[in-house]
Amino acid sequence: MLNGVVLSLRRKTPVTSAKHAGTPNIRRGGNLHVLLVVGMLAVFALVMYGEDVSTLADHPVARRRTEEYFSPDEVSPGRFVTTRLSHRGDGEAEGEKRGNESEEAVVAVQELPITVDGAAANGEVNATTSVQETADDEAASEVPNVPVVGVPETCDLTTGEWVYDDVNYPLYREEQCEFVSTQMACLKNGRKEDAYQKWRWQPKDCSLPRFDAKLLLERLRGKRLMFVGDSLNRNQWESMVCMVQSAIPPGKKGLQRDGSRIIFIAEEYNATVEFYWAPFLVESNSDDPRIHSIRDRIIRPEAIEKHAAHWKGVDYLVFNTYIWWMNAEAMKVRKSSATNWTEYEEVARPRAYERVLQTWSRWLDDNVDPSRTVVFFMSMSPLHFRGSDWGSTEGVKCARETTPLRNMTGIFLGTDMGMFEQAKRAAQSAERVPVAFVDITTMSEFRKDAHTSVYTTRQGAVMTPEQQANPAVYADCIHWCVPGLPDVWNQIMYARITSAAATAGGASAQRR
Ligand SMILES: *[C@@H]1O[C@H](CO)[C@@H](O)[C@H](O)[C@H]1NC(C)=O
Ligand SMILES: *[C@@H]1O[C@H](CO)[C@@H](O)[C@H](O)[C@H]1NC(C)=O
Ligand SMILES: *[C@@H]1O[C@H](CO)[C@@H](O)[C@H](O)[C@H]1NC(C)=O
Ligand SMILES: *[C@@H]1O[C@H](CO)[C@@H](O)[C@H](O)[C@H]1NC(C)=O
Ligand SMILES: *[C@@H]1O[C@H](CO)[C@@H](O)[C@H](O)[C@H]1NC(C)=O
Repeated sequence: MLNGVVLSLRRKTPVTSAKHAGTPNIRRGGNLHVLLVVGMLAVFALVMYGEDVSTLADHPVARRRTEEYFSPDEVSPGRFVTTRLSHRGDGEAEGEKRGNESEEAVVAVQELPITVDGAAANGEVNATTSVQETADDEAASEVPNVPVVGVPETCDLTTGEWVYDDVNYPLYREEQCEFVSTQMACLKNGRKEDAYQKWRWQPKDCSLPRFDAKLLLERLRGKRLMFVGDSLNRNQWESMVCMVQSAIPPGKKGLQRDGSRIIFIAEEYNATVEFYWAPFLVESNSDDPRIHSIRDRIIRPEAIEKHAAHWKGVDYLVFNTYIWWMNAEAMKVRKSSATNWTEYEEVARPRAYERVLQTWSRWLDDNVDPSRTVVFFMSMSPLHFRGSDWGSTEGVKCARETTPLRNMTGIFLGTDMGMFEQAKRAAQSAERVPVAFVDITTMSEFRKDAHTSVYTTRQGAVMTPEQQANPAVYADCIHWCVPGLPDVWNQIMYARITSAAATAGGASAQRR
């Protein structure tokens, strides 16, 4: 469930350690808050570790649980990746490794030739060449006179309500997007109703522009759009790929993997939509896209260059980091004198988060050219783990929820709004580079119906009927179905990208 989770198969109960770790950080007078936080951690612990004991019994050899972001079956040297992604077990309490598969797979994840709609030929597909070849095509010869879509800069797109709209939604159909991973393909995984795809977000004071894939691709022509962060950001990346891919004919699009990146290439546009795995933005011992442990996570809050080297020169950068912070109140921080991950100290979460965000915003100031690059920071994606939070007596977690909440007054889902404020401040603190802080939290909190729930994968396989029948243990109430809610997050970005002045730097208009 948790994005990218490797769990050690130990019996030490995280509930206990969470309580212990949490106590010192909580302000006096916040008893309710304490309870909620502890409850939240307990829920995390239950969901994340609930299965450990039984799987340990089943697989005594296994030492660790792993999230497999890159499937070793799929990625090996000299072989092409298929276009359908398989994030094996990502975002759930992933199954343990089989034998020493992990090392092999790490070696196997190397730069790969692009595959175009699975028709990879002999590895000679060269995106750059193809673009040159199509330079005379009509698409390229059109004057890239991109119409500006008028969303007033001043309109707050993130305050509003959900309106059922099965005329305009979904923006694309699940089965028509070959790039949806099995993890997010809820209908394919057995979800029977699709109402969750048909809600339009209606901002209070204006409307989101209708999504036009061609228009966005024109704006991205010759450019790179990169999502950087954890599996929620990958969830959004996947949605974005689906949103644009429909406008690209077969054979002119494909996926490439390169280390921590997955790259969607729109050949005719010489454009890429990329995802870069960095769950803490800064360096951590969880940076391997496949093998990482949320339980054992340790960060280096002042070290970002190793990742950030891959972000330089990108035209649109979309960051997030949240969920990996939430399994314990204290964050493990590597000692500055240490040369490996064995020496660390525990730092209160808010302090560690602040240090990370500071490193990040300083990096932006030092490395990003605001006349060229537009930067977004996506706020916290909320969880729906306790039906009691919204007064449900029948549902189990988010399972069987088919409609959004209607009124959030008095409902607290456990989202850490302190971190929200910290991130918002950090986004405004870069002095030279404007950052659009996008509040997806408010709109998403309504959407208890939109999670993958039991219509997802576990240990790389679609959940079995038995698992699906046991949402209390198995439901993933963190990630979201695609098509679905992340499409709307992308519509907000779309509105900002297409409304901004054609010369970049339009990001300044997005700051508020
Ligand atoms: C794991 O490694 C051992 C020796 O290092 C080797 O004999 C064995 O075949 C490997 N297992 C797998 C599944 O590759
Ligand atoms: C791909 O195209 C680039 C630029 O034209 C060229 O330098 C490179 O050698 C090509 N690669 C292959 C594998 O053809
Ligand atoms: C393709 O886009 C990249 C940036 O992503 C740019 O550096 C390159 O010059 C472009 N190539 C062509 C042929 O336009
Ligand atoms: C990690 O570093 C410490 C000293 O900083 C050293 O004693 C220890 O052997 C190292 N561990 C590994 C696995 O390299
Ligand atoms: C939401 O509920 C609160 C009280 O529970 C009520 O005061 C408020 O008017 C409601 N808002 C809407 C939009 O229905």
